[in-house]
Amino acid sequence: MTATPFQTMTSIPMRKKLIAGNWKMNKTSADAVLLVKDIDAASPKDQNVEVVICPPFTALESVARALEGSAVKLGAQNMHPEPSGAYTGEISAAMLRALFASYVILGHSERRMYFKETDAFINQKVLAAFKSQLKPILCVGETLQEREAGVTLKVIQTQVERGLQGVARDIATSAVVAYEPVWAIGTGKVATTAQAQEVHAFIRGLLTNLFGEAIAQKIRILYGGSMKPANAPELLAQTDIDGGLIGGASLEARSFLELINAAAAVK
Ligand code: 13P
Repeated sequence: MTATPFQTMTSIPMRKKLIAGNWKMNKTSADAVLLVKDIDAASPKDQNVEVVICPPFTALESVARALEGSAVKLGAQNMHPEPSGAYTGEISAAMLRALFASYVILGHSERRMYFKETDAFINQKVLAAFKSQLKPILCVGETLQEREAGVTLKVIQTQVERGLQGVARDIATSAVVAYEPVWAIGTGKVATTAQAQEVHAFIRGLLTNLFGEAIAQKIRILYGGSMKPANAPELLAQTDIDGGLIGGASLEARSFLELINAAAAVK
């Protein structure tokens, strides 16, 4: 029996859910291998969820080896926009690619806050990541003060538009945007599903203005900020929430696996 076009269309989800673990400044190389092996061994093999682990730089190589042949992908937490040169302490996109990283988190609020990264600098990194075939996970999010002042959407608009400036349409579908309200990161205060969906839908609208409807519908928008097994199912069921960027709950195999399973269960 041949499938009707209708059946074919419904069997292909528009956006594959993505669960990414941002380990931040945690785990030595040896500890990272133990954790990633636990995660990989228990991850569902018929992946309808893309799983990405972002360990610290010092664990990238050992984790890459541990993940050889696995569907779990590797990401970095930051990079410098220049390809090489006198930038003591920095890491280039090519160095990350050489360690089999396929994603890189850029513009995390901790980088913006503690290392004074600007939208313009983050944009340079986004463009450099694409040039090296690394998929950027561009983080955006408002502070508590900004939310209380009623400027959340304005802040998000600036960060998305400046962060993605100059990104060509034909590569834009590989970009990932992570909405991480700063007040929800590591605080246990999760955005309500309505708050999160409102901002995600707004970001989808911005992406539509930048790249057109067809491309915007293919770009994944992740939620980050105290995502846990208890709140994930509801968040992940929202129309424009395509996965999670997980901090604390990604540091333990059991909770991270529960989040992967929650994403896999969304119909
Ligand atoms: P938590 O999940 O610990 O709140 O961290 C979120 C985050 O910053 C992921 O990048």
